[in-house]
Amino acid sequence: MAVTRRQFLQRVGVAGGAGVMYGTMGALGFAPAGAAAATPAFTPPKASDFTLTGRSRKKVVVLGAGIAGLTTAYELGKAGYDITVLEARHRPGGRNWTVRGGTKETELDGRTQRSTFAEGQYMNAGPARLPQHHVTMDYCRELGVPLEVFTNSNAQAWIYDSVSGTKVRWREAKADTYGYVSELLAKATDKGALDAELTGEDQERLIAFLRSFGAIGDAASGYAYTGSGRRGYTTDPGAGLQDGEYAAPPSVADVLARGAGRYFSFEMGWDQAMLMFQPVGGMDRIAYAFEAAVEARSTIRYGAEVQSVMNTQDGVEVTYVDGATTRTVTADFCVCAVPPHIAARFRTNLPPGVQESLAYAVPASTGKIGLQYGRRWWEEDEDLYGGITNTDLDVSTIWYPSYGYNGRRGTVVGYYNFGANADAYAALPHRGRLQKALAQGRKVHGPVYGKDIESTFSVAWSKIRYSEGGWVGWPDQTGREYRRLLRPSGNVYFAGDHLSHYIAWQAGAILSARDVVTHLHTRVMGAPA
Ligand code: ALA
Repeated sequence: MAVTRRQFLQRVGVAGGAGVMYGTMGALGFAPAGAAAATPAFTPPKASDFTLTGRSRKKVVVLGAGIAGLTTAYELGKAGYDITVLEARHRPGGRNWTVRGGTKETELDGRTQRSTFAEGQYMNAGPARLPQHHVTMDYCRELGVPLEVFTNSNAQAWIYDSVSGTKVRWREAKADTYGYVSELLAKATDKGALDAELTGEDQERLIAFLRSFGAIGDAASGYAYTGSGRRGYTTDPGAGLQDGEYAAPPSVADVLARGAGRYFSFEMGWDQAMLMFQPVGGMDRIAYAFEAAVEARSTIRYGAEVQSVMNTQDGVEVTYVDGATTRTVTADFCVCAVPPHIAARFRTNLPPGVQESLAYAVPASTGKIGLQYGRRWWEEDEDLYGGITNTDLDVSTIWYPSYGYNGRRGTVVGYYNFGANADAYAALPHRGRLQKALAQGRKVHGPVYGKDIESTFSVAWSKIRYSEGGWVGWPDQTGREYRRLLRPSGNVYFAGDHLSHYIAWQAGAILSARDVVTHLHTRVMGAPA
C-alpha cells in the first residue's frame, strides 16, 4: 500500500519525535516519496502595499532570531513593517550554530566550554547539510551566501559492525549486497518464480538489469556473484601489467548477517540524497547574512529573555528581561518563533489550549562532538575525503570535514547521535564525552583516532539553554493541538520548523515563517485603511 510522506512521519514520529524517525527511516529502508515539486509560491510584502493603499505600517515584535524569526523579520521588513526582534542569546541563528575558536557555552548543568578551534576550523553544531530542493538554497542566493558541496555519502567511508568488530568500506558493502541480491533475484527469475508477474521478455530485461546492477555472472554461471573491482582492490590497478586484484566476497550469509544494507536507503531520502551543500565557512553564514539584512531595516535586541506575551485590546504586550532590567514592548502583532516547549513557559493570557498545544511537542535529543586534529589522517592514511561513517556504536555516525581538504589540520565530528545515545553522552561531563567518543572511534579507526587531537567541543542539545532539544516531534501532527498553532491566537502568531513537515530543517522554519508573513500581511491589508 502506498504510504504518503505525512503518514509515514506520523507513524514513526509518535513519542520519540524526529529522533526515532531518523533511525526508523533507515531501518525500514523507506525513502519518503516526493516529486520535484516547486517551493510553495510566496509573494513578499512590498512597501507599495502600504504607500498605495494609504495604510500605516504596523508594528511587529518577533520572538527569537533563529531562522524562522529572521525570515519573518526579513520578509515583513521588505514592506517596511516596524519590527523589533527579541533574542535571548547574543548571536543570531538559534540552532543554526557554528562552533569556532572563541565560542563559549554553558550548558544547563552549569558546565562551561570555551572553544580553542584554530582559525578556519569549525563544527556546525546544528544544521550541517542543505538539500538542493530546499528553499534555504534560494535564501543563500538572495543573501549572497557562498555554497560548496557537502559530502553526505561517500563510497570510501566505512560501515562498522560491533558484533564482528570489523569495518568495510561503503563501496564494498554495497557491491556485495547488490551483488548477492542480484544473484538471488536472477536465480529466482530463472527458476520461474516470477512467471506470474513478468512476461518472458520482461524477465530477460530484469536479468539484464541485475547483471549490470550486481556485476553478476551469466546464466551458465548461475548468475553467480563472485565480486568485482567495485569492492575495492587488495592490489590496486597500476602501471604496465598490473591490472589490480580484488578479494573474493564473503558468503551471502555473512553479508546478510552483517546487515550493512540497513544504511543504504538513507542516501535515497528526499532530504538526504547527494548532491548536498553547505555554506562556505560554516552554517551560521546564513544566520549572519539574515542578521545583516534584517538590521538594515529593523532592530534585533540580543540578550532579551522573554517573560510574558499578552494579547491587549488592539495589539500585544511583551515583557523581557535584559540583564537585571525588565522591559516592555508593545506592538500590533507578535510572531513567536521560539521552540514550542520553551514558549510554553511564557506567562500569557493566550486563549485556553494554546499553552497545552505548545507543551504537546516532544523535544528530541541529539548531540555532536567536534575533534580538531593536527593531521588529516583520514585523508592521508585512509584516502577518505569527506562523508560519513555509519556504526552500530552509540556514536552512531562519524563525519569527516567537507572543507579544507589536504590542509594541515581538520575537524571531525566524532559523533552525531540521537535519542538514548545522545542522552547518554549528554549526561557526561565534557571530558567524559570526549573519552567515550575516542574509545568508540578507536574501534573504527584504530589508535590514530586518539592522536594529534588539538581541540574539542561537544554539544548536547537537550542541555543547551533556549533550545533544550535538537528539534521536536509531535505525537500527532494533524490534530487540534498542532492545528491550533497554525492560526493566530488573537494578535500572536507562531512560526518555526516545528510547524512544518520539514521538522529539523531550516527550510521548515523558512516555510512556516513565510506562511505567517502571508497571513499577517493579508490580515493587515484586509483591515480598513
Ligand atoms: N535535518 C537534520 C539532519 O539532516 C536532522 O541530520
